[in-house]
Amino acid sequence: MPCTVIVGAFWGDEGKGKIISYLALKDDLDFCVRTGSVNAAHTVLFEGKKYALHMVPAAFINSKTRLLIAAGANVHVQKFLDEVEQTKANGRIGVDLNASIIEEKHSAQDKASAINKGIGTTGWGVGPAIEERVRRTAKLAKDIPELKPYLADQVQEVNDGLDANKKVLLEGTQGFMLSLFLSGGYPYVTGRDTGASAIASEAGVGPTRVDEVLIVYKSFITRVGGGPLPGEISKEEAQRRGWFETAAGTGRDRRSAPFDFELAKKNAKINGATQAALTKLDSLFPRCRGVKQYGDLPAEAKDFIKEVETKTCVPVVLIGTGPEAMEIIDRR
Ligand code: IMP
Ligand code: MG
Repeated sequence: MPCTVIVGAFWGDEGKGKIISYLALKDDLDFCVRTGSVNAAHTVLFEGKKYALHMVPAAFINSKTRLLIAAGANVHVQKFLDEVEQTKANGRIGVDLNASIIEEKHSAQDKASAINKGIGTTGWGVGPAIEERVRRTAKLAKDIPELKPYLADQVQEVNDGLDANKKVLLEGTQGFMLSLFLSGGYPYVTGRDTGASAIASEAGVGPTRVDEVLIVYKSFITRVGGGPLPGEISKEEAQRRGWFETAAGTGRDRRSAPFDFELAKKNAKINGATQAALTKLDSLFPRCRGVKQYGDLPAEAKDFIKEVETKTCVPVVLIGTGPEAMEIIDRR
């Protein structure tokens, strides 16, 4: 803080939602800006309730945080309205005037495309919606009557907030390995750059105004959809290890692989990471479950954390030990 970018290290689903919800309360965030679109689901578990958020920023659990949808984002109007109700975000959430709109026709185009089937897109239509925006024929938030009560100048609000030394978190979505430009995984990528610089850019925050880049690693790697996954293990093996997951948004099986130190190092560098979070440590070492003090971790877990730090050259400041927002070891 004051300005932190949260970026996913791998193929998404690293547990960014949990980390953001923790920071919202712990650091008492003033602003949280969500980038990207409806294809990404951020899971928040708080006070026994589970949320899979496709639009509303994961910081909603702090009722004092101003929640914003970025100028560069793509808004699914119905999903947004439903989630505002579900999270009781009315009165403290805003959508940038110039955010673009994703419509049903985009989803139909996404699902009808043969290449998209092979890539295994989420089917929400984010790629076609971005194409339309680039063609300059997209609808913007300011054109939608239902969004009128929520319209905001996100870019101005956040930059004014930074002038006043407010705490701002820029919520990246998906993971760096899905970046359209930088992951090297084309065409098995999403329709945008998911890296830290692009997250700041979508929110209209210049690079010199960002103080920290917090890269989120999960203790193992998962991927949904097509494309290579180095070190991939079978579904049966993933179940045996306790790594098997299904996607929060689409319900699809997630493929999995062990943590990749080389990839973790490379992506930390490209994203300019200054801090790291390591989630789901309890999936690798069940004895870590619910632990809140570093000193209470078993030696093998500490060794793993040290290895992550030595190989990536980034300090692991937050460690997830359970699904609840507050199940975190905070070493800051
Ligand atoms: P699209 O973003 O729906 O176009 O999908 C492109 C690729 O990115 C597919 O492999 C999806 O499974 C993957 N993808 C998109 N969003 C997410 C996400 O939030 N988490 C994990 N994978 C995602
Ligand atoms: Mg997700």
